[in-house]
Amino acid sequence: MAFMKKLPLLLLALFLTACQQDTAETQSKETPPTPTPTDFIEELWYKNSLVYSVDVEVFKDSNKDGVGDFRGLTNQLGYLKKLGVETIWLAPFQPTPNRDDGYDIADFYSVDSRLGTDQDFDTFMKQASQQGMRVIMDLVTNHTSDQHPWFQQARKRADSPYRSWYVWSKERPKKWDKGMVFPGVQKQVWSFDKQAGDYFYHRFYDFQPDLNMQNPAVQREMRKIIRHWLDKGVAGFRVDAVPFLIEIATPDFDPENPEHQFDIITQLHQYIQWHKRDAILLGEANVAPDEQKPYFGKDGQNMQTMFNFFANQHLFYALATGETKLLRKALEDTKDIPPTAQWAHFLRNHDEIDLGRLSDSERRKVYDRMGADTTMQLYDRGIRRRLAPMLGDPRLVEMAYSLLFSLPGMPVIRYGEEIGMGDDLSLKERLSIRTPMQWSGGLNGGFSEAAKPVRPVISRGPYRYPVVNVAAQQADSTSLLNQITRFAHLRKQCPEIGWGKWKLLDTGSEHVLAIQYSWKGKSLVMVHNFSSEPQQCQLTTGLKSGSSLVSLTTNKTSRAGANGVYQVPLAGYGYSWYRLQRD
Ligand code: NOJ
Repeated sequence: MAFMKKLPLLLLALFLTACQQDTAETQSKETPPTPTPTDFIEELWYKNSLVYSVDVEVFKDSNKDGVGDFRGLTNQLGYLKKLGVETIWLAPFQPTPNRDDGYDIADFYSVDSRLGTDQDFDTFMKQASQQGMRVIMDLVTNHTSDQHPWFQQARKRADSPYRSWYVWSKERPKKWDKGMVFPGVQKQVWSFDKQAGDYFYHRFYDFQPDLNMQNPAVQREMRKIIRHWLDKGVAGFRVDAVPFLIEIATPDFDPENPEHQFDIITQLHQYIQWHKRDAILLGEANVAPDEQKPYFGKDGQNMQTMFNFFANQHLFYALATGETKLLRKALEDTKDIPPTAQWAHFLRNHDEIDLGRLSDSERRKVYDRMGADTTMQLYDRGIRRRLAPMLGDPRLVEMAYSLLFSLPGMPVIRYGEEIGMGDDLSLKERLSIRTPMQWSGGLNGGFSEAAKPVRPVISRGPYRYPVVNVAAQQADSTSLLNQITRFAHLRKQCPEIGWGKWKLLDTGSEHVLAIQYSWKGKSLVMVHNFSSEPQQCQLTTGLKSGSSLVSLTTNKTSRAGANGVYQVPLAGYGYSWYRLQRD
């Protein structure tokens, strides 16, 4: 009887236990495993995006005033789309006295009226997005122009709230003439400001006073700037001068050996992602491999991507000498980055090629081959030329682009490089490589119908606009423009490059670089011959016999020998992109 009395209680207990078990089972079935970064790598757009760097001022003038503008750029979106561009990187376009080609900003929140209106910018953003292209922009907050109202206020009154937005010293600091970024042109990093009665710090030219990033008000303002442009639709920022942005500058610091505050980048990253999940920071930080880690951050919480300046200089050494050993080492030395991070690779950008990390004798070899005349050299470390005149041989130019599209990273090309534009060494410093885009053989190369364009179009020599221009190259299936377009589209069929793992292969030739990529059972092998002489190389891919290398660029196939070695013949400056196929 006692048992009968307890029966309902027992049944209830059994029922509750069953429910618990059931919930536990459903939970364990439904709780997804914690994702690891490699699970969502395919969603990281910057792993495989083709970036096109454009300076609106010299790209296309729509209103015949001689200055390129946003309407002109908007009208050329179809051209960029056809080329295969996925991300447009805009050089600074805000109001500026323009003494450093826009990198001296006088108002961070609007568009330089010479380049258009805020509405023109919005229209451009809308149309770029409709055509499936992202836009990133320069974030230049290491410094302002000395004409910026903040600096004007700061220098006027010592008690101005803006005074502490900049970095001052009562006395001339001991290291006033150390650590200049533009040696030869710039004489010091601390200059006396008569109006303020104090010295101010400027890592770059003396008309670019450094902002004091230690000041929370400056950090707040930087977030405001970021928010402003994110709200207008940009997909991220090319962060100017990162090592200087985060250096702790004080009157007694050593500009040649500064301390860095990396949590500024971490906060930027968090702030940006809080507003736009997939927006990125692309850092300009020319650092040695042993310094690169904190720039990407632990688990990639700082910059998502950075320009690989280290590989770039060794790549130019390889192009100059035909020897790949140092390039191989540079790629290996910069290999270890977080899985969510990515390098941005480039051949030329808007600055001089910085060869400062090569030894003197290595740099000399690059100068001898590509910039022997001292008028071609700049800041005791680099060359102020465009790629095509530097390399000369069109086969080498083509091979260099094939390589760019097949390096482990996001390829970045600079406007005009796709048609092999030249340089104008009569223009000062880096302006030599910032001449207007050459669209056609018409007036001013089709850049502008004004009598006097903002900067002279190249009209003399082998790279003059009647010879080197978009229209002519569009009509020629063998042109550099069409070749680069083919590379860009081919790269889209090779996602292994951005997502996969890579390793360098033995080739049996010091002139040949071979990279193998693997991703989800698929594999690519990219080979490039840096010598003008044909090479017979032997590739060991790790796959034994019974597989073939099928070329995506030449339609040739190579079968592995019994020892698993592929015989790959390459013409002088030849290249091939292969997919590995198991029989
Ligand atoms: C780096 C930019 O690439 C360069 O063009 C500019 O002069 C300096 N930062 C100063 O903003």
